[in-house]
Amino acid sequence: MEPREFFIEDRLERFRLNAFCNLGESGLAHFLLEEVMDMAQISWKDLAKIPMNDSPNQGSLALREAVAALYPGVRPEQVLITTGTGEALYLAFHVALPPKAKVALIWPAFQALYEIPKMLGAEIIQVPHERAFLASTWKEIQADLYIINQPHNPTGKTFSESEWNSLLTHFKEEKKKVLFDEHYRFLPGAGSLGRTGVDPIHSLYGTGSFTKCFGVTGLRVGWLVAEESFLKRARSFKDYLTHTVSPISERMALGLLKSKESFLPKIQTRVRENIRMFDSVWKELPHTKSFTPPEGGLVGWLELESGISSEVYADKLFEKTGVFVLPGINFEEEGYLRIGFGEREDRIKEGLLRWRACTDLI
Ligand SMILES: Cc1ncc(COP(=O)(O)O)c(C=O)c1O
Repeated sequence: MEPREFFIEDRLERFRLNAFCNLGESGLAHFLLEEVMDMAQISWKDLAKIPMNDSPNQGSLALREAVAALYPGVRPEQVLITTGTGEALYLAFHVALPPKAKVALIWPAFQALYEIPKMLGAEIIQVPHERAFLASTWKEIQADLYIINQPHNPTGKTFSESEWNSLLTHFKEEKKKVLFDEHYRFLPGAGSLGRTGVDPIHSLYGTGSFTKCFGVTGLRVGWLVAEESFLKRARSFKDYLTHTVSPISERMALGLLKSKESFLPKIQTRVRENIRMFDSVWKELPHTKSFTPPEGGLVGWLELESGISSEVYADKLFEKTGVFVLPGINFEEEGYLRIGFGEREDRIKEGLLRWRACTDLI
């Protein structure tokens, strides 16, 4: 059993570290360690005193308490700390999926959300994003597991309040098993913390992290929230993979979650300003057709004029301007570009000027 190539990764590896303007990644531009320590209110002395033993398999109690506090009614025993959300997803799929399972998810999607279930023999039901944010769509689908990624990557869409309430009611009444991937919850369209669908006692499980929203992807911390028996199996499975998370990462994660109110509003304003800036100029970018600003998270989906290869466009754009974007074909959808809004404001400004002036892109 082996998953196919992870389509976005080759391009990310080639370009993310040397792009002048990085609109290809789905995380906020990274902070330096000294900045992160400031945000987390951790001194060099605190850092020096971290015991370098293995953390508890499930994650330190203090960190699990901080994560549990993000979800109504969730207890620390229902939280498993993982190496990134990627590991949480990998574990959850192995524990949740029966043989020959049917898995429904919003399409297009972050590849791990369907590639791992596919590797495990699941049939994938693609729910097109144009209809996926209506509760009625999900009521017609019979699946063993529903995956709701919101705010969504790559389109940046989410549910209206009424559709959301109706969807949750349906999932609970019909006793459906659902995995909510809420990686971008710290960057809602409005307010400070986005909604959650997680409710472990109703089999509404969740994966999450703050690393992309806070600009600290190198910490590699994520989590899974589920009821205890599910979590126990996932924890045991994790013993064969990464086993524990570095105590340094755990300590930083705890500091960041505890002091998020001191830095998160600034990040949220910056991302919203980047989205606003892009929305005001995208019509002037060559060969673009439509763009709907993201309703949450860090990425949006820019449509190209028909017949254009997204890969050719993205390659030429990088070559001629240093602006890095991801082609839609990496999400198995031709004719689009995924645009990330986590870059520094001055670089986005200059990047968009260069992009606008670049005529030879197809
Ligand atoms: C929707 C979604 N889920 C999960 C992940 C995996 O995140 P991590 O880097 O925490 O493993 C990503 C990464 O881009 C993502 O976009």
